[in-house]
Amino acid sequence: MQHDNTSATYRPQWRTGVGFLFAAIGSAVGLGNIWRFPYIAYKNGGGAFLIPYLVALVTAGIPILVLEFALGHQKKGSAPKAFSMINRKYEWLGWWSVIFIMFGIMAYYTVVIGWCFNYLCFSFAQSWGNDPNSFFFDSFLHTSSGVWDIQGMNPMILTAVALIWFINWAITFQGLEKGIERAVKFMMPVLFIITAIIVIWSLFLDGAGSGIKLYLTPDFSKITNVDVWVAAYGQIFFSLSLGFGIMIAYASYLPQNANIFKNSIIVACTNSFYEIFAGFGVFAVLGYMAFKQSVPIQETVTSGIGLAFVAYPKAISMLPFGTVFGILFFFLLCIAGISSSISIIEAFSAALNDKFGLQRNKMITLLCGFGFLESMLFTTHAGLFWLDIVDHFINHYGLITVGLLEAVIVGWIYKTDTLKAHILSRMGASGTQYKFFRQTILRVWEFCIRYITPAALGIALINSLITEFSESYEGYPVSGIIILGVGWLLVTHGAAVVVSGLAWKKPPGNE
Ligand code: PHE
Repeated sequence: MQHDNTSATYRPQWRTGVGFLFAAIGSAVGLGNIWRFPYIAYKNGGGAFLIPYLVALVTAGIPILVLEFALGHQKKGSAPKAFSMINRKYEWLGWWSVIFIMFGIMAYYTVVIGWCFNYLCFSFAQSWGNDPNSFFFDSFLHTSSGVWDIQGMNPMILTAVALIWFINWAITFQGLEKGIERAVKFMMPVLFIITAIIVIWSLFLDGAGSGIKLYLTPDFSKITNVDVWVAAYGQIFFSLSLGFGIMIAYASYLPQNANIFKNSIIVACTNSFYEIFAGFGVFAVLGYMAFKQSVPIQETVTSGIGLAFVAYPKAISMLPFGTVFGILFFFLLCIAGISSSISIIEAFSAALNDKFGLQRNKMITLLCGFGFLESMLFTTHAGLFWLDIVDHFINHYGLITVGLLEAVIVGWIYKTDTLKAHILSRMGASGTQYKFFRQTILRVWEFCIRYITPAALGIALINSLITEFSESYEGYPVSGIIILGVGWLLVTHGAAVVVSGLAWKKPPGNE
């Protein structure tokens, strides 16, 4: 069927249910799962971290995912449209999330994918030599002395980032079904197969057992620490792409009768299973390295960024068939990153299309072009510091605030009844024997959205603020924190308020 995809009322649809699931899982599974999760888990109590992590998944991750899927599906719209249909005065929230993700997270996320691409090329000759640490920070990033010592851009990184933006453009430009759905149907199976190969390979290495033991040994003394709980909620939000406006837009392309609840459970469980599974591979490799160098394993564990670009290259150099391992690993990171980055381009362009009826192709080209220009900031010699600050503030404040407001607006203002009815009527065959069970599950969901999720996110937010005022994040100068961290959030918030005040080309009615 021919569609007129220039009109504001046209809404594309996923060709198959699996296509949608792959796209949503592709968005969720990203760089955050492969190196962020294992490190965060280790830092926050190893095996014991799984307790706050699973509590966060059940009390905030799944409830908010169900909320975002249901809202996008019911309102048939991107985040700004969905919120403006609840009440025009909440439209800004939808804009804020898509704007700070598209022009905040995406600007540096694509740069990290660019590094992965550079490292994919380095893997062929193991160009990092025998000191991957100084290779990464000095020879590769040319890290400067501080936040404001910007110097120039790194041409090699810039070229890789241009390529990554080009790939993003080439996929999203083709449209939802021909671009995104087709790409993820290829990327996701490849991603799962490579992950399985890498993890199983790692498990058979000498010393793997000691790494796994470190990963899983519970340190229960950490569970009483609020920071550990905040880290668990932060990880769940970033990892499941919650508060990004992505899941709302993706669900808006589902057919009328799609089972929202089942889809949420599949996406959330696959994502968490994936990151816990990937953690086994990461720690097995660290165990192997400790074994080879005869050092205590604790010494091999470095921070998030260093784990992929310092510890891994070191291990790759020691491994038999390390070149193959390196190529697979960095290729995996590239695919995981791209299947996430295309999702935010889609969410942002859906928002512009809903509100202004802009033509998709031109919009995607402009968005990717502008996105690339912004990414250039992070390819400078101070890029690493900029990335660190922007990432910290967006994750700790932006995402958590959006999640909190979503829960409060839906739970207390919009009320959960209509959404509950919407989800219930699509929960599968309407046999009476399960009715009570289904209603109970939805009551639990409602209770989470109204009480548990806001309370948990509220505590996380207050706790982060207290830490922020007691010490400057990572010792950065206050000017850097204010301009890059707070400034980024305030400017995008201002932009969201302005855009939400503009007139709709075709005001959304209650469809
Ligand atoms: N969920 C992604 C991850 O874990 C985060 C992300 C999604 C980042 C979409 C950018 C765009 O890596």
